Amino acid sequence: MKRPIIIDTDPGIDDIVAITAALFSDKLDVKLITTVGGNVGITHTTRNAVDLVTFLGRNTPIAKGVDEPLVNKPKTASQVHGSSGVGTYQFEAEGNTALLSKEHAVIELRNNIIDAAVPITLVAIGPLTNIALLFKMFPETKENIKEIVLMGGAIEGGNATPVAEFNIFADPHAAKIVFDSAIKIFMCGLDVTRLTSVTAGDVAKVKEQGTVGEMIAEMLAYYKQTYSDDAITIHDLCTILYLTHPDLFQTKRAKVNVVTEGEAAGHTVVNDSDDGNVFVCVDADVEAFREEFIQVFVETI
Ligand code: BDR
Ligand code: CA
Repeated sequence: MKRPIIIDTDPGIDDIVAITAALFSDKLDVKLITTVGGNVGITHTTRNAVDLVTFLGRNTPIAKGVDEPLVNKPKTASQVHGSSGVGTYQFEAEGNTALLSKEHAVIELRNNIIDAAVPITLVAIGPLTNIALLFKMFPETKENIKEIVLMGGAIEGGNATPVAEFNIFADPHAAKIVFDSAIKIFMCGLDVTRLTSVTAGDVAKVKEQGTVGEMIAEMLAYYKQTYSDDAITIHDLCTILYLTHPDLFQTKRAKVNVVTEGEAAGHTVVNDSDDGNVFVCVDADVEAFREEFIQVFVETI
């Protein structure tokens, strides 16, 4: 049986790669996509999700979520993803707005999770605002969540500040609610996403794999300007490849505390613990990861 997942996302170029990998996986059943403000504002992240699902010829429902963090002012990453969130790429066809739910993302999350016959895996690849609100408004949903697989945080370093990763930095108060929830969390932080960077050569192979590969390669050509030919870090893809190929990753068990205020806001303090709820990814098979990245697009033909 395919594993039922919901993706909460702020597309975002690496989000687009991750969603595409999930939609083409024969191991995953994407029940719902919910959007959040992050890399760019909610209008763009939602439009990008609708345009992508339309482009891929899928019917996955999409629900628009929260634009602004719980407490802080919004911070975007448009310098990485472009002002629209997908670089200079333009989807040819008009997005199918019938995919878009009339309900708010938090309500759709609640309904989908409560109604699910098999506990849901939540894949969170943007700021955690929607998920934090879900837990505050509908705490009963926690009972039917198998696991949260998220891209966020780092044992060491940062990309938004010297000590904070963007998704956690963008809404540290929400992240704290999620990490403190006691739900099992698989954390793909910068330690592993940077390690599993792909190369320009890998992207060239993706480009040869038909129209989906071409779309991804075009977006990555923009995204690559922030990185380098040897190390294009497609952060959010780690979450999906963990679900489809868990053997590629090594974890350690920990409790994670999120700093919410001050100079270190957004920092994830990782304390090793035998009864921690967080499995922090510490290592990965880089060559196998790169091969699976290319393989995603072979399967789209
Ligand atoms: C994370 O921040 C965003 O810019 C990316 O989409 C990814 O989710 C990386 O720090
Ligand atoms: Ca993201």
